[in-house]
Amino acid sequence: MRFEERAESYDAHAAPQKRFAEALAAFAPFRRGVRVTELGAGTGFLTSALLAQGVNVDATDASPAMVELGRQSVPAANWSVRNAFGPIEKAGALASTGLLHWAADPAAVLRHWRAALPTGGRLLLGVPCDPCLNELRDLIGEGPVRWRDEAQWLALLKAANFDVHAHGVLESEEIYPSAIDFFRHLHRSGVTGDPRLSPSELKSLLRDYDRLNARPDGVVATWAWLLVDATARA
Ligand SMILES: C[S@@+](CC[C@H](N)C(=O)[O-])C[C@H]1O[C@@H](n2cnc3c(N)ncnc32)[C@H](O)[C@@H]1O
Repeated sequence: MRFEERAESYDAHAAPQKRFAEALAAFAPFRRGVRVTELGAGTGFLTSALLAQGVNVDATDASPAMVELGRQSVPAANWSVRNAFGPIEKAGALASTGLLHWAADPAAVLRHWRAALPTGGRLLLGVPCDPCLNELRDLIGEGPVRWRDEAQWLALLKAANFDVHAHGVLESEEIYPSAIDFFRHLHRSGVTGDPRLSPSELKSLLRDYDRLNARPDGVVATWAWLLVDATARA
C-alpha cells in the first residue's frame, strides 16, 4: 500500500471505497450525539457520512498526508495521526472501513480494538472480502493482501471477543474504459504495492485482462465489501 504517497490522488480514484463507506454508515447508523473513533479514516468518506448522522467523530489515520487532506475536506471531525494496528486509545465506539485487510495479523489487531472498547461498545466495520477483485487475482494471484471470505472475517471477529449482530456482503461491478484505466485507478488510490512485474509482463497482463473481462462498454472489476455491526463481548 502507498496511501501516504498517493493521498492527493486518492479521492478521485476511490469511487467504490466511497460508496462502501456511505453504505456502511447507512447499514447500522449510530445514535445522534455519540462519540466514535474512526480508524484508517483516509480523506474522510466514512467520517462525512457519520457526521451527517449527528455523530461526533475522532478521525484517525497513520498517514499524515491523509490526515491533512481529511482535516481540509471534513473539518468538523477531530483529526489525528494514529496507528490502528497496535494498542489504541480507549473509545466508546469504533468505526473503520477499508483498513483491516491491510494488517499482517488482523486477529491481533481486532484484539487490540476489543481491548479499547467497554463491554457492549460498538464496532462498525467495513472490509473488502472475497470475491473483491477476483478477475485481477485470477491473473496475478494473491498479494499484497491476503483475501478472506465473509465466514473467515466473522470467525476472526468472534475469536477476538466480538458479537456480530448484523452482517452482509455488498458486491458491485465497476466498469472501466480499459484494463490500463482500471490499473491506474488502483495505482492512484494507493492500493498497489511495489511493482512485481516487468514491463513486458505488465503488457501481457493488461492484454489478458482486456480480453477476459470485456464488456460492451469497457472491462469489469468486481468489488465486494463485508459490512459488520458488532459489539464487544464481556
Ligand atoms: C483504502 S484507504 C481507506 C480510507 C477510508 N477509510 C476510505 O474508506 O476511503 C486505507 C487507509 O488506511 C490507512 N492506514 C493504513 N495502515 C494504517 C495503520 N496501521 N493505522 C492507521 N491507518 C492506516 C491508510 O493511510 C489509508 O488512509
